[in-house]
Amino acid sequence: MITFPETAAAAPAGGRRARLRRAAAQVLLTNWTGAATVPSRALYPHQWSWDSAFVALGLRHISPRRAQRELETLLGAQWGDGRVPHIVFNPAVPAGAYFPGPDFWRSAAAGRGAGAPPAVHTSGIVQPPVHALAAWQVHLADPAESRRRGFLPRLYPRLAAWHRYLAGARDLAGGGLAAVVHPWEPGLDNSPVWDAALARVEPAPPGSFTRTDLDHSPAADRPTDLDYARYVRLATSYRDHAYDDARTPHGFAVEDPCFNALLIASEHALASIARAVGADPGVHLRRAEAATAALVDRLWDPAGGVFLARDLATGAPIPGYSVSGLVPLIVPGLPADVAAGLVRTLHGPRFGLGRVHLVPSYDLTAAQFDGNRYWRGPSWFNTAWLIHRGLVRHGEHEAAGRLREQTLTAAHRSRFAEYLEPYTGDGRGIRNFSWTAALALDLLHTHAGEGPAR
Ligand code: SER
Repeated sequence: MITFPETAAAAPAGGRRARLRRAAAQVLLTNWTGAATVPSRALYPHQWSWDSAFVALGLRHISPRRAQRELETLLGAQWGDGRVPHIVFNPAVPAGAYFPGPDFWRSAAAGRGAGAPPAVHTSGIVQPPVHALAAWQVHLADPAESRRRGFLPRLYPRLAAWHRYLAGARDLAGGGLAAVVHPWEPGLDNSPVWDAALARVEPAPPGSFTRTDLDHSPAADRPTDLDYARYVRLATSYRDHAYDDARTPHGFAVEDPCFNALLIASEHALASIARAVGADPGVHLRRAEAATAALVDRLWDPAGGVFLARDLATGAPIPGYSVSGLVPLIVPGLPADVAAGLVRTLHGPRFGLGRVHLVPSYDLTAAQFDGNRYWRGPSWFNTAWLIHRGLVRHGEHEAAGRLREQTLTAAHRSRFAEYLEPYTGDGRGIRNFSWTAALALDLLHTHAGEGPAR
């Protein structure tokens, strides 16, 4: 049975909002290391790439300067080829605190040819490009402070190089979309969408590595050991090919709708940044337009009313309805029939908008749906934030307002859980998770019906 306490009428108001704001700010203060924010002190004790972008979107409401610093620290670890690594390791954290750690990735040595920084240890894979979108919003939070610190002029060339890397070296199929080469790159690590592609990967031998995530989170909420063994194999192969995209025989190569939608939205933000620093926005607008056409052409499934990932090994769309396929709702200039199809799918039985908590990460009606396990069904706060933004963009203000209220109440009630069981709304994974707190803060500052700032 669905338990659903957070109706619009019971939404946080007045004093409750103030308490939520204080509690969310406290999470971000506790997880701040002096130069960046850890997603969680226990489970993820370093800096993560897309986490930091979401964190900056919330931090800007408490300290625009700290939000700038968050992004500067991440981009300070950028590789010479333009990639922004998915983890920047904190040397003060004990070596065994997280697996796979710096000893596994060996970025400075194995990534030398790709321009890995010599003195900062990072992973060698990437995560979704939310950074330009976040940087522009951080600038808008306090333009005077941003100008005083030269925030945008310093970030612009780095963000432009990041997007060039994705549009260039990562366009593995040559069709105008960026490919991901590890299930951790799209951020939806163990989504059922990856199952068939991942099943072709030979797992790393049992006993060849030790997981640390299970020290902090129940095994039933996390990916399985077999998934992990395949993640390790893929990362090892990339590392052993010097993180060279052209040379690595990618055992996993997929075009993901959420990843590419975020790249397009960020390309629009980069055009705004270019204008602000006196550069030509045209290149970014043209790239955004071309990528939007490629997204619709290569990944849109009109029958399902959803975007599907494409497996580059088979050349075929991957059947399976994931929240990733709804995130393109954030893309400016999406054809009207496509946007309308996405809104219908969101409200339909597979995602149950308004009838379950937030937006489930996977099709509620599918046999593979698991409401507890990481990205195989639970509802996450970052995807809810993105869908909220998309609904507002397409004028769906009532649905957006309800999703916003649900998200705020669920963040508080779950003590800023990493994710939620969609039917009960009970927290899963860890608590005091940074992006949950940050995006709740951001939604607190967004008034129902307000359009997303460009
Ligand atoms: N999300 C992965 C983890 O759980 C890697 O970024 O560690």
